[in-house]
Amino acid sequence: MTTREKPQNLWMGRWGFVLAATGSAVGLGNIWKFPYMTGEYGGGAFVLVYLLCIAAIGIPIMMVEIGYGRRGRGSPIDAIRRVARESGQGAGWSLIGWMAMLCGFMILSFYVVVAGWSVSYLWKTVTGGLNADTVDGMAAIFGANNASPWNLGFWSTLVTVVTMVIVGKGVQEGIEKSVRWMMPGMVVMLGIMIVYAMFSGGFGQALDFLFGFEIGKLSSAGLLAAMGHAFFTLSLASGAILTYGSYLPDGKSIARTTFTVAICDTLVALMAGLAIFPVIFANGLDPASGPGLIFMSLPLAFEQMPLGTLLEAIFFIMLTMAALTSAISMIEATVAWLNESKGISRVKAAWGTGIVLWIVSTLAMLSFNVGADWTLVGKNVFGWLDYLTSRWMMPLGGLGMAILAGFVLRDDIFRSELGLSRTQHALWLFMIRYVSPLGIVVIFIDALGVMTL
Ligand code: PHE
Ligand code: NA
Repeated sequence: MTTREKPQNLWMGRWGFVLAATGSAVGLGNIWKFPYMTGEYGGGAFVLVYLLCIAAIGIPIMMVEIGYGRRGRGSPIDAIRRVARESGQGAGWSLIGWMAMLCGFMILSFYVVVAGWSVSYLWKTVTGGLNADTVDGMAAIFGANNASPWNLGFWSTLVTVVTMVIVGKGVQEGIEKSVRWMMPGMVVMLGIMIVYAMFSGGFGQALDFLFGFEIGKLSSAGLLAAMGHAFFTLSLASGAILTYGSYLPDGKSIARTTFTVAICDTLVALMAGLAIFPVIFANGLDPASGPGLIFMSLPLAFEQMPLGTLLEAIFFIMLTMAALTSAISMIEATVAWLNESKGISRVKAAWGTGIVLWIVSTLAMLSFNVGADWTLVGKNVFGWLDYLTSRWMMPLGGLGMAILAGFVLRDDIFRSELGLSRTQHALWLFMIRYVSPLGIVVIFIDALGVMTL
């Protein structure tokens, strides 16, 4: 049977949900993507818009997602169907859940490749493989790491296997137990890195760079990138937060947990900036060096600094843990769905999903070597997975969830789930009806190429 009368799975610890959801949110998006995007889109101006997007789009939608999960008590497909049915709506709304689940799967299939970079760089750090002394030299190392499908595939496969092992163990034994030590560990390591960065000589410059709000530097491309990134960084519309929300006990405040998760995610992104940019500036390197920032410029910078190798190892351990706690959340929706709706045991569901995932992720991995030219309208597999998920599926899913919650569902459902005061609820409703959807529509217009500012 697909209906689950009482949830079998709930977070054990008081902090279970917050740790797991923060673990999901804090990932490569914060430590890899956010710093390089900030570098590319001109620093403080980008940071400011990003913060606005988190507040205006991200937070209201995260509340909605957790609400669906807890109210519907199930994977995205089942939970949304149940909540819609409660308001006399048809099963068609569960399409949003299908898309979210697929989106999480697709993100993971390229995420493991980037996470694989991180693990391979940890290995290189420890074994002395990052020994170039120019940016070009570091770029050559990065290129060589990608060039062999066997090498790159080894690392992404490793990440895939570890992810599936954790998820296969279950919500409490697998996910909750691993985030319980990985999250505090990450924070400690990030703290060490920031203290180090403070003494690197580039801290002031980094502060200026990150928080000098020069609004003139803002481009429409930066604005749109900031909006897309708000979804990605908060793990929205990809099944992760919704499914984790389905394990949230009834008494917990959704608003409070949402704010905690969103604030932690934002803080880690800013802290990552404060850990990385001072070191980059202190060594006179370019902050706008794109996706290679932490794999080329940062190792080069560390190379030239006291205790650099140690700090670099700490950095890649931290990055790997951040990636893992996100990876497990991306696939939990699929595994939960197979388990709850199809009656497949978690272990079998995890391995079955893992095999399909491995095939797709291998195709994404090949985009960096033999499959670089397997393109369709100019994008290879990796490019398509990234583009479809962050430009289309996440915003579309967010839009659908906002419309369902804001205009379609019976009013009392979210009133009781969220339990906000009258004014707070009115504010939330305004955001979810008008502000978030409007922001999302702007992303679409850009994706369609209509807006060329
Ligand atoms: N939020 C994660 C990050 O910032 C990525 C993610 C997306 C995780 C979607 C889960 C679902 O890296
Ligand atoms: Na994030």
